[in-house]
Amino acid sequence: MTATTAGPAPSRTLGLLMQAARGYSRVFSESPVAPLLSRPSPVRRTGFERDVRVERRVDEAEGVVSLTFADTSGGVLPRWEPGAHLDVRLPSGAWRQYSLCGDPADAFRYRIAVRRIADGSGSGEIHDAVGEGAVLRIRGPRNAFPFATARSYVFVAAGIGITPILPMVRAATAAGSRWRLVYTGRSRASMPFLDELGELGGDVRIRPDDEYGTPTASDLLGDVPRDAQIYVCGPPPLLDAARAHAGSGALHTERFSPPPVVGGSPFEVHLARTRTTVRVAPDESALDAIRRAVPGTVYSCRQGFCGTCKVRVLDGAVDHRDTMLPPDERADSMLVCVSRARDSTLTIDL
Ligand code: FES
Repeated sequence: MTATTAGPAPSRTLGLLMQAARGYSRVFSESPVAPLLSRPSPVRRTGFERDVRVERRVDEAEGVVSLTFADTSGGVLPRWEPGAHLDVRLPSGAWRQYSLCGDPADAFRYRIAVRRIADGSGSGEIHDAVGEGAVLRIRGPRNAFPFATARSYVFVAAGIGITPILPMVRAATAAGSRWRLVYTGRSRASMPFLDELGELGGDVRIRPDDEYGTPTASDLLGDVPRDAQIYVCGPPPLLDAARAHAGSGALHTERFSPPPVVGGSPFEVHLARTRTTVRVAPDESALDAIRRAVPGTVYSCRQGFCGTCKVRVLDGAVDHRDTMLPPDERADSMLVCVSRARDSTLTIDL
């Protein structure tokens, strides 16, 4: 429980300082110059939230809708570069990340695309409850998949993994670079943006599984030019295959599902406030186990970089596997989507 104490009225000096702080915050979080004061890349950790209206909703493929956002006041939106994503707050209050797949040169619009996932509550909310005219809170853009300047590129996208790749392909075309895109998916009907890719006129190889069978790494990557940067976005098996085939030098990857648990041991998590204990299997995340007991446990990226699932640790040593928590927070907090117990038990404040 948190105690709140009402204090005396602020002095005139304190009042002026508070006014100045509010002005500073407005400039750094809401004004049109905010993007210039703090670049969206690599990562903005706080602030930069705004409300956007869904200007357009389009069925792009089977189970995939795109949403085009505009600022609710019609203002300019912070700039972004290919590979960037937005945090989007859903009507339920949960936050989810979606790659930007529109035109970075359009200063007034953002576009995302969302595939409906069978057990994905976030994608279901977008599909069922977010129509044109809806207002959503967003945070960002942030970029964890930056696009390098190069003379040659090989792009590989699987299904909805086309979303960060599409602006990259456009940027490569605009820069006059050589590029090749291999785009795979279950079937043509399930693959969004085929028409837009067709208009680009470059080396686009559409490879649906129901026509060509499940691709091997060499089907997808083939011979990679020596000077090429390789960008791959898809599920974990695709990324593993790409790594094995291409090495790591010029390979850039982004996954859109949680990483498999590697080297995990079973342990128990005591949920102090819920007064229950859950058992975490060696191949599952603590988050998945906790959500069996507390289905409303919040999460977003499930990859250890957004901080949504952070909980306080009351007892036990943590095997931290995230890329986000600063050292001083590791002493008493953990991200349950990826981190685990170092020993057999943990007690957390949940
Ligand atoms: S859900 Fe994003 S860090 Fe755990």
